[in-house]
Amino acid sequence: MSEVYLNGEFMPLAEARVPVMDRGFLFGDGVYEVIPVYGGYPFRLSQHLERLDRSLQSVRMENPLQPDAWERIFARLIGSASDLDQLIYLQVTRGVDRTRNHLFPQGVEPTVLVMAWALGPRDPAISGTGVAAVVLEDNRWHRCDIKAIALLGNLLLRQEAEDAAATEAILVRDGLVTEGSSTNPFIVQGGEILTPPPSTRLLRGVTRDLVLELARGADLPCAERHITRDELETADELWICSSSRELQPVTRLDGKPVGEGVPGPRWRQLDDLFQDYKARLDSWGKRV
Ligand code: PDD
Repeated sequence: MSEVYLNGEFMPLAEARVPVMDRGFLFGDGVYEVIPVYGGYPFRLSQHLERLDRSLQSVRMENPLQPDAWERIFARLIGSASDLDQLIYLQVTRGVDRTRNHLFPQGVEPTVLVMAWALGPRDPAISGTGVAAVVLEDNRWHRCDIKAIALLGNLLLRQEAEDAAATEAILVRDGLVTEGSSTNPFIVQGGEILTPPPSTRLLRGVTRDLVLELARGADLPCAERHITRDELETADELWICSSSRELQPVTRLDGKPVGEGVPGPRWRQLDDLFQDYKARLDSWGKRV
C-alpha cells in the first residue's frame, strides 16, 4: 500500500492521522465498503456505491462525495500500486467533535478514508478441499443491513470460529440462518440454490446478489427464502461468499461433512460462472 486518501489528500499510510475525538474512533460511528478490483477495474462499483448511500442514509449522514469523485480517488489509488487485483477499503465517519457526546454533532465534516491493497490469488486448497465453518447464535444488533464500522459483534463470532479451527461462523437467529460473520451463505437442497431473503438481520452482499443473478441467468433453480438450522445442517452443499473471499465451498460444518464432504457440483458451476464473469469485466464491469 503506497498511499492512502484521507480527507481530500493523498499521503503515505504512515503519515495518515485521525484525531482521537473522531467519532469513528470513540463510538464506531461510521460506515464502510470493501470493493474488489480485478484487472485494474473496480468490480460491481455502482452496486457498492449504492449500498454506501443506503448505509449513510440509515445512519443519517450525507454522502460526502459524488460518484465521479469516488471513482477518481479509486483510480489514483489503484494506479499507484502495480497489482491488478486489489481490494479497496473506504470508510466515512461522522467526523471530529469537540467533546465526547452521544448526540450527533451539527456542522461537522465527515472523515473520509480510502485505502487499497493487493488481493492475492485464491488458495487452491479452498477449491480443492473447501473450508470449515461452525454454527453460532447470532447475537449482534438488529440493523445488520447497515455496513457499519462497529463490528465487535462480528469479530467475536469470527474469533470463536477461529478458536474452533473454522474459517467462518454461520449465524442463526430464532432458528433461522442470517449470514456469516463477514460473508453471505448459500445452501443447495435437492438441486435448488437457497439463500436468506434481504432483511435488517443481514448485510445484503454485492457478491450474493451477483451469485443469484448468475444462477438465474443460467436457469438454475434458486430462491431467496428462510433457511432453518436443520436445513443448514442437512444441506447437500453449503457456500459462503463476499467481496474478499469470492465464492467458497464449506465442506465441514461443526466438524461434520457437508453433503459428500467435498466441494459440490453446484458450487463448481457457480464458481465457473463467477470466474467467467470476472474475466469479462472489461465489457461488463465499470471502468475507471
Ligand atoms: N464483508 N455480510 C457481512 C457481515 C459482511 O461483512 C460482508 C462483507 C458480507 C458480504 O458482502 P459483499 O459480498 O458485498 O462483500 C456479508 C467485507 C468483505 C469485510 O468486512 O471485509
